Amino acid sequence: MAESKNGRYAHIVGWGKYVPSKVMTNADLARIVDTNDEWIVTRTGIRERRIAGSKDTTASMGFAAAKEALERAGIRPHEVDLIIVATATPEYVFPATACLIQDALGAVNAGAFDLSAGCTGFMYAMAVGAQTIRSGAHNIVLVIGAETLSRIMDWKDRATCVLFGDGAGAVVLRVGAGSGGVLATICRSDGSGGDLLMVPGGGSKCPPSHQTIDQGLHFIKMNGREVFRFATRIMDKSAREVAACAGIDLDDVDLVIPHQANLRIIQAAARALKMPEEKFFVNLQHYGNTSSASIPIAICEAVEQGRLKPGDHCVLVGFGAGLTWAAALVKWGEPKPLHEPTRLERAYEGLLYVGAGVRSRLARGFRRVESAVGGTPLPRSIDGEKGRKTKK
Ligand code: COA
Repeated sequence: MAESKNGRYAHIVGWGKYVPSKVMTNADLARIVDTNDEWIVTRTGIRERRIAGSKDTTASMGFAAAKEALERAGIRPHEVDLIIVATATPEYVFPATACLIQDALGAVNAGAFDLSAGCTGFMYAMAVGAQTIRSGAHNIVLVIGAETLSRIMDWKDRATCVLFGDGAGAVVLRVGAGSGGVLATICRSDGSGGDLLMVPGGGSKCPPSHQTIDQGLHFIKMNGREVFRFATRIMDKSAREVAACAGIDLDDVDLVIPHQANLRIIQAAARALKMPEEKFFVNLQHYGNTSSASIPIAICEAVEQGRLKPGDHCVLVGFGAGLTWAAALVKWGEPKPLHEPTRLERAYEGLLYVGAGVRSRLARGFRRVESAVGGTPLPRSIDGEKGRKTKK
């Protein structure tokens, strides 16, 4: 897959993140469940996590991350062809959170859909986005991972509530002729392990009811030990597989950005791959496991910290509910020279997003007027006469 037959490559040209301002430390958690900082740090490496404020939602955080990624890429929302939002905590069952973000951005030419693959969602979404670019179907794809896990957490269950956090990250993929960008991806699943990590209630099998609420079925349920075993098994396997797929020797991999679930899982992967731990990017101490948002947030921070440089080969590897797992080998590109926007350009950018809000409200209003004035066409009558009611 590394060499493109049609000369099209999917380059990462923009990245952005949003994390809520509210920090919840291990000490804060110890005040609400029977846990302590020492247990959480030694078992997971997590020291604190971010928790969504009353105004933060999956869509609002995804929007903020996407806006930053587009601005960094110098791409205007109307140029985007496709928006994929990976999330396990969508705003609604439907419409898709991707459509809400499309509307807020004013990405009027983009298709938009959500993708559900647990914590592996962002990796799946990036694989799909890169393939649509390489196939020639699209030129610019916005890939977002956004989660509000705090809203599906059982704050009485110490085995899960210490692990997760909220946030969002996004990347912009753009077609480029030069070899690089997302060189290879693999996506795998094993549904036989679906029960190891799930939210059993609220879906069509077990719709919300007083009973599902009383039983707490709308919260995350997890068999931590089994998920741990699964994760340690697949991390090194998928990193090796994707490197082989891209034709890159593991020794030539400069950085691994793993899903930020547990430091012990990352350390086990480093040992299995015989790679120094320094080659693994870790920021889970600050955010905990933000599911689909963990890898894009880590990408942003790896770039900020100078850990991901032009020409570097980077392995991204994720795992999660499903069970699912996926990996990508990315050749990091030359960043565009930073263009400090003029005041006029900044004002224009601001207007674009204000304009998106106005456009959305106008479209709703217009739809209402159109419906009131024009009504809806009558169904074709059984005798074939269009638009007339059948007489009894
Ligand atoms: N604070 C204090 N004690 C806790 C605790 C907490 N937050 N959570 C569990 N414990 C207790 C358990 O009750 C158990 O006590 P017991 O021995 O008296 O029964 C003890 O700690 C050990 O529990 P165990 O489940 O064996 O711990 P562990 O070493 O397996 O670590 C996890 C637990 C959850 C940290 C670990 O299994 C894990 O990280 N799994 C993967 C989870 C994950 O990444 N999920 C997301 C995937 S995308």
